[in-house]
Order: sequence, then C-alpha cells, then structure tokens
Amino acid sequence: MPAAIETQELTKDFLVGFWRPRPYRALDGLTLSIEAGEVFGFLGPNGAGKSTTLKLLLQLIYPTNGTARILGKPAGEVEVRRRIGYLPENPYFYDDLTAEEVLSYFASLFGLRGADVARRVSTVLDDVGIAAERRMRLRGFSKGMLQRVGLAQAILNEPDVLFLDEPMSGLDPIGRRQVRDLILSLRQRGCTVFFSSHILPDAEALCSRVAIVVQGRLVANGAVSEIAEFQLTGWELVAADVNESLRSSIAGRARKVTSIGAGRFVIDLPPEVGPDRVLAELAAGGAHIVSLNPHRETLEDYFIRQVSAAAPRQTGID
Ligand SMILES: Nc1ncnc2c1ncn2[C@@H]1O[C@H](COP(=O)(O)OP(=O)(O)OP(=O)(O)O)[C@@H](O)[C@H]1O
Ligand SMILES: [Mg+2]
Repeated sequence: MPAAIETQELTKDFLVGFWRPRPYRALDGLTLSIEAGEVFGFLGPNGAGKSTTLKLLLQLIYPTNGTARILGKPAGEVEVRRRIGYLPENPYFYDDLTAEEVLSYFASLFGLRGADVARRVSTVLDDVGIAAERRMRLRGFSKGMLQRVGLAQAILNEPDVLFLDEPMSGLDPIGRRQVRDLILSLRQRGCTVFFSSHILPDAEALCSRVAIVVQGRLVANGAVSEIAEFQLTGWELVAADVNESLRSSIAGRARKVTSIGAGRFVIDLPPEVGPDRVLAELAAGGAHIVSLNPHRETLEDYFIRQVSAAAPRQTGID
C-alpha cells in the first residue's frame, strides 16, 4: 500500500522585499512518509514552515523544489482532492450565512443533493458540537465556534486524508477535548490525519508519530516517547501528613525534598526511582498523596534551544 502522504525534499522559497525581492527559504528539503491510518503531528514554533507545508500538500502554492504525493498520486490531482479534507489556519466564511447554509453549500460542491445534503450537514454539525447553533449567522460566532465550522467543512466529504492547520487554536478546554475525540473517532474509521500544532500535550494524546520543524528544517521525527528530548527527566510528588521517619527514609532516594508546610513535602524523584514504591511506602506510613507529575522537557524549551542553536539567517538560503 502506498504511503498516505509522502514528501521528497520539499522546498519552498518566497520572494520577499518590494524593491529588490530576494528569496526566503520557508521550507528546506522536507522528506516525510506517513502511513495510511496514522495520526501525525507536525510541530514547530511560529514561522517554522508548518502552514507552508500544508499549503504545498494541498497545492494551494507550488514547491520551488521537491515533490509531494498523497494516496500514491501527485498532490493536486482531482482524484486526490476529492478524497482529502482541509482546515486552514484562519478559516473564513461568508458571515451573513448560518452554519447550516454554509455547510449545505460546501456539501453541494462535493456533489451531494437533496436529502443527502441535510443528512450529512446534520451529522457533521453534531460531530463538531455546534448543532444547537446551526441557524445562527456566522457573524455572531466566536473564534472557537468558527473553528468548529471549519472542522465541519473539512470532514464533510468523509475524507481519507485530513489536513488540519492548528485545529485546537481558539478552543477552550472543552472544545479541545471535543476535537481530540473527533480526531480519535476519525482514526478509528481509518482516516489519516495530519495536523499542525505547537502544543505537545495535544500531540502526545493523539499522535502515533510527530515531526518537529524549526526554521524550515526537520529536526526530529518519531514517536513522542522516542524523541530523546521528551524522555522523562524525573517525577514531582507532593505528599501530606508525612512524618519524620517517612521523610528521612524517602530523602535518601530523592533528588530533593522541600517542606511546604506542616507535614507537606514536594519530593523530587530521579527517573530511575519509579514512583510506585515510594507511593506505596508513603501510603503505608499514613501519608496522603496530593499529586504526582512526570517531568519532561517541554516543547517550548525544545523550540527555544533549537532556535537559539540555529545560525542566524539572512536570505534564508545557505
Ligand atoms: N506568502 C509568503 N510570502 C513571503 N513569506 C512567507 C509567505 N508565507 C509564509 N512566509 C514566511 O515563511 C515562513 C514560514 O511561515 P509559515 O506560515 O509556514 O509558518 P508556521 O509554522 O505556520 O507559523 P505559525 O505557527 O505562526 O502559523 C515565515 O517566516 C513566513 O513569514
Ligand atoms: Mg501556521
């Protein structure tokens, strides 16, 4: 079976500057292969080249170099377009229309007619959680609600491959949760999902694999648990009602034990000391667990390190 999405040395230069336009390399030799059925996270800081990559995959813009194939065919072929969905970074709709009208219009563009339009629109409105607002004009929609209309539009044609540019942006925690559940249900029915984000926990909760781009270059590609920078660096355990003998017994294995009030401590455990035995010991000694959190390098720390390590760029082309 061909890869669902495949890029070879995909490169994009933009001409910047008005009087003396010079090329600026927004994407530099991206080679990626994504299997059918994968949920793939495309991560990077602002300006990394995420939206540029998505637009190249959709053939909204053309590469300076390299190729992109979707479902085994060149990106942009009519047959491919029919089988994909796309949520742009800032979806824009004619705001005099209601959600139902806009989606019915798109459904008719996809070739649906009559009762099939109403049925499909009703299903996707439910899927994205705006069924109650279906008759409201989009002018009155919040950013999060518009994002959901965009998502509904992207899944209208039951795509085999779905491209989402920052699908969680503008959503509150409930909205993020709904989008996560929606992506998981799409995966269940075999849809390949390629989404960009700069939020690691969203990617971690959903993705079989992530790629990280910084300044147009691929800097990591693999399962989140395999990318060395995100491996566990320790545990932070907060416990209450810890007596002195418990404290001194655990202090020997901890990197640090900090008192935060009578009998309450923050216990910093190194990664090789699994928290299970410490938790059991605390519980047996009459202490109570307040919280337990794993420590890893955050995506933000990682981005900052990568960006500061990269050489400053003039034209962007080396
Ligand atoms: N049409 C264009 N003309 C000139 N430069 C562009 C154009 N589109 C993008 N760029 C530049 O290319 C680089 C990558 O932009 P892109 O929008 O792909 O980043 P991104 O990773 O999506 O960032 P964000 O997280 O802010 O959405 C940026 O430096 C941007 O300024
Ligand atoms: Mg973007």
